[in-house]
Amino acid sequence: MGSFIKPGQRKAAAFGISFDTDRDGTSAPAVIDGEKQSNLLHQRNRLPVTKYQREILYLLERHSCTVLVGETGCGKTTQVPQMLLEAGWAAGGRSIACTQPRRVAAITVATRVAEEQGCTLGREVGYKIRFEDVSTPGVTKLKYCTDGSLLREMMDDPLLTAYSVIMVDEAHERSLSTDLLLGLLRKVIAQRPDLRILISSASLEAEKVAAFLDARTVKATRKRDRNASSGPGPMGDALVTATNGPDGDPADLATPAILSVEGRLHPVQVHYLEEPCADYVVTAVETTVELHREGIPGDILIFLTGQEECERAVALLEEEAGRLRRVGGKNALRIMPLPLFAGLPAAQQMLALEAAPRNYRKVVAATNVAETSLTLEGVTFVIDACHVKQRTYNPRTGLEALLVAPISQASAQQRAGRAGRIRPGHCLRLCTQEAFSKLQQATVPEMQRAELAGTVLQLKALGIDNMMRFHWLAPPPAEAMVRALELLHSLGALDDDARLSKPLGCQMAELPLEPRLAASLLAAGRFGCGQEIATICAMLSVHSVWASGGGQRRAIEEAQAKFSTAEGDLVTYLNVWKAWEDSGRNRKWAERNMLSQRVLLRAADIRGQLLYHLRRLGMEPISCENEVAAVCKAITAGLFSYATRLEGTIYESVDADYSGTNSYSLVRGTGGQAVRLRIHKSSVLWRVRPSMLVFHTVQQGPSGWHEMQDVTAIQPEWLPEIAPHMFQSVTRPRPQPGGT
Ligand code: CDP
Ligand code: MG
Repeated sequence: MGSFIKPGQRKAAAFGISFDTDRDGTSAPAVIDGEKQSNLLHQRNRLPVTKYQREILYLLERHSCTVLVGETGCGKTTQVPQMLLEAGWAAGGRSIACTQPRRVAAITVATRVAEEQGCTLGREVGYKIRFEDVSTPGVTKLKYCTDGSLLREMMDDPLLTAYSVIMVDEAHERSLSTDLLLGLLRKVIAQRPDLRILISSASLEAEKVAAFLDARTVKATRKRDRNASSGPGPMGDALVTATNGPDGDPADLATPAILSVEGRLHPVQVHYLEEPCADYVVTAVETTVELHREGIPGDILIFLTGQEECERAVALLEEEAGRLRRVGGKNALRIMPLPLFAGLPAAQQMLALEAAPRNYRKVVAATNVAETSLTLEGVTFVIDACHVKQRTYNPRTGLEALLVAPISQASAQQRAGRAGRIRPGHCLRLCTQEAFSKLQQATVPEMQRAELAGTVLQLKALGIDNMMRFHWLAPPPAEAMVRALELLHSLGALDDDARLSKPLGCQMAELPLEPRLAASLLAAGRFGCGQEIATICAMLSVHSVWASGGGQRRAIEEAQAKFSTAEGDLVTYLNVWKAWEDSGRNRKWAERNMLSQRVLLRAADIRGQLLYHLRRLGMEPISCENEVAAVCKAITAGLFSYATRLEGTIYESVDADYSGTNSYSLVRGTGGQAVRLRIHKSSVLWRVRPSMLVFHTVQQGPSGWHEMQDVTAIQPEWLPEIAPHMFQSVTRPRPQPGGT
């Protein structure tokens, strides 16, 4: 392992941890129901935020906006909405919404709060994420929802009249939707003096957000907004017609309040590597084993970047656990390795969150989902790889890739805080102190590093036409904005004056899909394959349909081969779907084919919703039966901006899997930027390498290659046929060199 320790020192002593063998009381095994309820109440009363109940309610009464800052785990997400509920904020027929940047957080928190309230999930307490609404109209008083799904609600109810309080939670994550929501709420509060906004965060430039939402500055800019940025959409209308602003209200209503909750976090000692490590997954595993051998108690949380890494770490840890068990004997403490990432089945997720059984040390290999949104019991060690997988958009190339990048210092601090929840803890950062000091201080808000087409489409649909005049908490780069407008125009969503086109643009905004997929689905009518494209869009909207779990790679590949076709991954999904339908949606069949029944059922649900949306828009989706070319053409109608062609060059790669010809370039060019694209190994076409294809997503690997995922082979003449405004002449691929 990379050494954290001065030579000659006893390791445990170097970590400065005492050997208390008793696990903390919070890790006690589950108790019976009645007792559980009173236990929960006892736990709730001990949370730091509970002491601030009076202040919070007082501030909410007197201020339109309140910014609440408090350490993770102090009770913001679970307790504050319950305080509001109990104080009667949901009494007048309106409900309380609490937004989360992540779906998994919305679900787990709602589950927990329903339990604390002693109600069935989906009744008084519910949740709503894209494609899944577990709430009951008229009954649900407290709804946890993703910020994205609340934005969608604004399309029908721009002033959010269904709610009395909106709590924008985990605001420090600065997700694209959170930022957009804050910009819109800034307009809404000017129209709804009765609405209350609560912004809560673990670490936030509270003053900055408060200043942004200061109603006095909102009023000052309203006149300008009225002239400049209000179009014909619902938000525009609302702004123009509503007149009852907060004029005449007490001054402090307009001034946002800030409240800091003192946490009771224990100190966390931070350690750095003496030398940089080559492979942080391996180093994390070795460090874990070392801690375990030293017999230092406490669960371990490892921060990695994605599912693949988490599964690899768990597989390595399982090997080690076997070895340690043989050495340690029957009564020794055992390692219990568990993965935690967004696509994991709920039951497995719960394992990672709950306390470990007696005699087990939980070691959770997690992605960023564990950074703030989720609560893990029992953790006193954090091992931080100091990297994260994030969306990164390059406006020059028009490519948004998932890229593994070093985290910011602020983010590292959050992660470290995870170790000090129940007693003093330790954070072991897998980088040198010097490298750490060079990390950027704060994470760049997603708004400034994401593709904006979806955001622009949503704003246009809300009647906000002048993007540059919109008040952003962090303004997106102008170049990215221009590219978003160009893309939407090329998809037919905007007319030549950059206004939402009718009906196409309005229909695209209605669909709960990103603009490219929405365009495909709407174009499918023309090609007579609405049913098929709805299936494909549904399959792309879920996490992988293939059974997850380390060590099954080969079996999955073999199963995949049964469904794969030369047309690519999207048509392969279609084959999977059809075969599953033919089996009568049989669970056993799914298992035999290494497919996740749970994910397939979810895809079926999403598919049904998409078909419903199409019908609502007056389109009756039909099936093309086995006309695969029609399907591929409809796909191209949405993804043509991601058309790439095979380059003739043959190169040798150190990675044997990739040598040969597999170098693609964007047909539309990359504005002079060198971008090397190749087909990702997970694709059914990564050996086939068709001369031209469109892809759906791209990941940027450590080697700098952009790896295309979910690819579909296309014919060159389709491009000018389907998108004549973008591709004028037939683009012929270069001849392929003999044999690959
Ligand atoms: O939002 P914040 O990070 O301030 O805290 P929270 O999510 O409301 O969680 C407060 C406390 O509730 C945690 O410290 C846990 O002890 C407990 N909790 C839990 O045990 N299980 C959950 N699913 C959520 C919270
Ligand atoms: Mg929280």
